[in-house]
Amino acid sequence: MGRVPADRLPKTYYAVGDRLETSNAGWWTSGFYPGTLFYLYQFSHDTALLREAQDRLKLLEKEQYNKGTHDLGFMMYCSYGNGLRLLGNPEYKQVLLNSAASLSTRFNPKVGCIRSWDSKPWKYPVIIDNMMNLELLLWAAEASGDASYYRIAVTHANTTMKNHFRPDYSSYHVVDYDTATGDVIARKTAQGYADSSAWARGQSWGLYGYTVMYRSTHDPKYLLQAENIAHFILTNPHLPADKIPYWDYDAPDIPRALRDASAASVMASALIELSGYVPVGRGQEYLNVAEQIIVNLSGNVYHAVVGSNGGFILKHSVGHLPAKSEVDVPLTYADYYYVEAMLRYKNLAK
Ligand code: GLY
Repeated sequence: MGRVPADRLPKTYYAVGDRLETSNAGWWTSGFYPGTLFYLYQFSHDTALLREAQDRLKLLEKEQYNKGTHDLGFMMYCSYGNGLRLLGNPEYKQVLLNSAASLSTRFNPKVGCIRSWDSKPWKYPVIIDNMMNLELLLWAAEASGDASYYRIAVTHANTTMKNHFRPDYSSYHVVDYDTATGDVIARKTAQGYADSSAWARGQSWGLYGYTVMYRSTHDPKYLLQAENIAHFILTNPHLPADKIPYWDYDAPDIPRALRDASAASVMASALIELSGYVPVGRGQEYLNVAEQIIVNLSGNVYHAVVGSNGGFILKHSVGHLPAKSEVDVPLTYADYYYVEAMLRYKNLAK
């Protein structure tokens, strides 16, 4: 809080040179800091955290009209969504509805997906991460009564289920589509080790995304998909004993490969929710893994000493290893999903 300039949002931190990296509101991670603050306020009732969350939200307000990113779900639902849930502020609701309208402009009915990136050399790229942006649309359908948001979310989830997954329920990172025919042109990676590998955070995004789809639709095919993804992850011979994944399940230098705490925190949060939708025995298996992740992330290997690590909570995440960017650093979204997982875990006891 003390280090981030008033007009910026925290992204990551490099110990060498004590360098805090921040972003503007248009970057995909902009919502995680206010979102984390809302979660921490929910837990602590500390109004200093609430004030900081509300101040940072103002920076994001203009993004409600941003039609140039598929990440509006991350940016706006993790921030304003938590704000609305805790405060019931009608202005926040309108910002979220406008955000859903902006996001839905990126949907192409021929492809059946929301477009991820506008960059070359892709034609119409869709990344597994995009499953995480559907929660905003599902909320908007409910809040506005406009069923088109629901249809877009369901269609995107169905198309992704058909084209992103391999027979073992691991997923490709990027699927590129032909907009004339809706056919798949290519299945690739951008942030993983190889096109055919299982990039760890991508597997966690898929797990979380289909769990949310089941929560909102009650369609058993999404529950089955989430369970199949969980099965791929939890039975993977390369999942370490402490359940903090390597950055890619097929990284060539396992067991020396870097771990990704962000993939672990997203997975823990998703598994806690999923545990509530399955028979008790399986639910307990999911909970045991989530508990193990939370305990291990809270130990001194991953959890920073207060005042160090640029103010971030967790160490040892991997953003984009092939681009040599954000390698073995704290990441704002690792903290967000870690805090979310702990709140979900605490609420189980109620
Ligand atoms: N959504 C981008 C990432 O997971 O790195």
